[in-house]
Amino acid sequence: MADEYLWWKHGLIYQIYPRSFCDSNDDGIGDLQGIASKLDYLVELGIDGIWLSPINKSPMDDFGYDIADYRGIDPIFGNNEDFDHLLDEAHKKGIKVILDQVYNHTSYKHPWFQESRKSKKSPKRDWYIWADPVGTGPPNNWLAAFGGRAWAWDHKTRQYYFHSFLREQPDLNWRNPEVQEAVFDTMRFWLNKGVDGFRFDVINFFIKDKKLRNNPLGFWGPYPRPYDWQQHIFDRDRPEVHDIIRGMRKILDEYDERMMVGEVVDEQRDPGLPTSYLGFGTDELHLAFNFALIYERWSAKKFMEHIRYYMALIPKEGWPCHVLSNHDFHRARSRYSFGRHTLARSKVLAMMLLTLRGTPFLYYGEEIGMCDGVVKRSEIEDPLGKWYWPIVTGRDPFRTPMQWTGEKYAGFSKVQPWLPVNSDHTVINVESQRRDPDSLFNFYKRLIKLRRDTPTLHAGEWLPRRSHHKVMSYYRVHKDQRMLVVLNFSRRGQTIKHKHNRRWEVVMSTRRSVGDKITGNVMMCRGYEATIFKEW
Ligand code: GLC
Ligand code: CA
Repeated sequence: MADEYLWWKHGLIYQIYPRSFCDSNDDGIGDLQGIASKLDYLVELGIDGIWLSPINKSPMDDFGYDIADYRGIDPIFGNNEDFDHLLDEAHKKGIKVILDQVYNHTSYKHPWFQESRKSKKSPKRDWYIWADPVGTGPPNNWLAAFGGRAWAWDHKTRQYYFHSFLREQPDLNWRNPEVQEAVFDTMRFWLNKGVDGFRFDVINFFIKDKKLRNNPLGFWGPYPRPYDWQQHIFDRDRPEVHDIIRGMRKILDEYDERMMVGEVVDEQRDPGLPTSYLGFGTDELHLAFNFALIYERWSAKKFMEHIRYYMALIPKEGWPCHVLSNHDFHRARSRYSFGRHTLARSKVLAMMLLTLRGTPFLYYGEEIGMCDGVVKRSEIEDPLGKWYWPIVTGRDPFRTPMQWTGEKYAGFSKVQPWLPVNSDHTVINVESQRRDPDSLFNFYKRLIKLRRDTPTLHAGEWLPRRSHHKVMSYYRVHKDQRMLVVLNFSRRGQTIKHKHNRRWEVVMSTRRSVGDKITGNVMMCRGYEATIFKEW
């Protein structure tokens, strides 16, 4: 019997930041028709699903992560028909579609909040978190994730409202059953439309301490941020949030093969937190991002430690997922750039991402090795960048337009885009990489196809080999097939030893020929070698 291929488990999910993917009407901002026009490209690459960063109606204070209408599409991206068309076309081409839903907070322009702030007696007052001042100040010491107090004063009703992020993003009161029902209805609305799942924004922030107790002070975790110096014990990760997530999972389970992946923000950077949101693996999130690797320096040993630890934390019936870049972090290509070795390193990472057990997530442009862009002060769009420049330059550099061609605006648009195109687009672009058999794009394409065609790679067990300072290596085992993945993180040759004398044949490699056979228990790896072997 053929192995069952479940899209969200065995496939690859591609994150699109809609503003920056493809502009169909030349207003400088990417849109839904633009995405629809690139579906064939995504089919060519071999992905199974797309996750769209928010496309709902929004004043764009946080570029869509501040939603004013959970059911409407923002006109900058198109309209509801454009969305239905995209969903339809994607499905016809075998691509699943995941929406980014931001339920921790709304925009202050959402009608719910507009109503809520009208008066203390408003029927929607309790849909948000309102509190009286304490003395002359805010109700407690909670800080916002983007810095500053998390409480905003409302003159009219003389109370504070709580916002985990910008003051333009008031937090919903998830303790209120009406809020829960309203959100659950929204989920059903999209699921009924045929959407295949959701990426839930900051899902661990939903519930706050009922008594609004003060957070203890002190640096939280090993990487303190200049604008946040408290332990978020009372405004995040409250135990009751798990009941809510279980409720959400029940809704998804009413439908076929839908999936929810959660962003669990964790300042401790310990994968134990995101994996705790998987519950038993069957009752909470299907997947939870693990950001540990995103923060790690280039080191085979460190990577292996993180992955081993993370894998061990996945509940028996749960499933891992892996991510190296997204719209909030420096791109992997830039984090690990190393002169003329940069491409070789990108291939090592690509092979790792596609051969681990777990769902890989790819951020648009990662497949061609897009780098962080250079955004001048006058061009900054991200509020974080506007506030904290030059200490923090914001997230714009990771969100620059997709580089399709070497033309003036990289084939993204015919006019100046909302963020500047990276000047390296003349070298790094889809068109030129398609033609180059050794390009990162073609490497990804081959890897993705191999992974899809090989149950051992998309479904097999993952067995780490002994830790080595420079070489990461592991087995994938499925039924009677055993494969070995060897990733040399160093530019020098390295030797690894096997306990058992096995015979290996090269399936794919950056430094060896496919079909080559190796025997013996000592293996020499060349600099930045990335190889998949199968036992024969
Ligand atoms: C998440 C998003 C980020 C956004 C924030 C507030 O962390 O990934 O982009 O700014 O939530 O919604
Ligand atoms: Ca447009």
